[in-house]
Amino acid sequence: MRIAMFSAKPYDRETFERVNGDLEAPHELTFMTPHLDRSTAVLAEGADAVCAFVNDDVDAETLEILAERGVKLLLMRCAGYNNVDVAAAERLGLAIGRVPAYSPHAVAEHTIALILGLNRRLHRAYNRVREGNFELDGLMGFDLHGKTVGVVGTGRIGICTIRILAGFGCRVLAADPHPADEAREAGADYVDLPDLLEHSDIVTLHCPLTPGTHHLIDETALASMRNGAYLINTSRGGLIDTRAVIRALKSGQLGGLAIDVYEEEGDLFFENLSGQVLQDDIFARLLTFPNVLVTGHQAFFTEEALNAIARTSLANATAFEAEGQPEHAVTVEMMA
Ligand code: NAI
Repeated sequence: MRIAMFSAKPYDRETFERVNGDLEAPHELTFMTPHLDRSTAVLAEGADAVCAFVNDDVDAETLEILAERGVKLLLMRCAGYNNVDVAAAERLGLAIGRVPAYSPHAVAEHTIALILGLNRRLHRAYNRVREGNFELDGLMGFDLHGKTVGVVGTGRIGICTIRILAGFGCRVLAADPHPADEAREAGADYVDLPDLLEHSDIVTLHCPLTPGTHHLIDETALASMRNGAYLINTSRGGLIDTRAVIRALKSGQLGGLAIDVYEEEGDLFFENLSGQVLQDDIFARLLTFPNVLVTGHQAFFTEEALNAIARTSLANATAFEAEGQPEHAVTVEMMA
């Protein structure tokens, strides 16, 4: 199968080429740096499938252009598909594959890195020490042991996170419309979201972005949180109303924020913009807070996860060739 890879970075190329080379029947891969959107979709000319990533804009128009050019399969090399118009794909007869679980550990472990980094002010300590400033003023954190952490979304990543938090001796509250036995077994107590927000010292988000979870953490949710609580988001930026978060940080209602994802990250993340003037004033304001820690969507970025992403994406293509369906298909029913 001829697969056109959009938003391809050197590490994507290296991993996909290696994994593809080990297949019995390798696919024909073309790597392209542009994001997939309605202005670049024509580049897929001649391909049977396109492979896209989290910040590609796979809207109806993009899909129409792909379908017109004979593309039959969209391979999302990620778990989320909030950036894909799934209904339009179905209408156009385009199948969608995704990678439901590549390494929940990678994301859960990065979540813990953010919690620890924010709490023990590692981002500030690192810079201070390099400047020869060994003062401790402003670096005080708290013991995680005995604190209450609220985990919103107890799927694969949420459960891994709960297990690690249990190891720290945290009390874990969980909210999910579909409670999981594994989360309970790891020590989490299920409560509803308002209860979780009210009683948690740290709230960490692990649910998908859907129309129903957009701005799940808004002004009202923030006001109901414990004064000085931390908010962590390694899931999707749209779960948080960033303007409301900035107000809560300014008032001190929110004690700290650590995020790996941002609502408007599509214009920023995965690129080196260090020589350019930052145009996003909301993001720029976030960066001014001493109690805000931001990473650029790197939670997934481990060797194990990249290998698994390549293996599953290519297996989706192989299954589509053989059976007309990717192994892990995305359908309209999943959007409900
Ligand atoms: P999953 O599908 O295994 O679990 C998601 C859970 O969220 C499910 O149990 C579901 O019932 C629950 N949920 C849905 N709506 C909810 C709501 N309103 N309130 C509470 N829970 C709700 O997904 P997984 O693998 O655990 O991934 C979670 C999210 O993490 C993904 O949707 C993706 O957006 C994000 N992610 C981020 C990465 C990164 O690099 N930063 C990498 C991989 C995933």
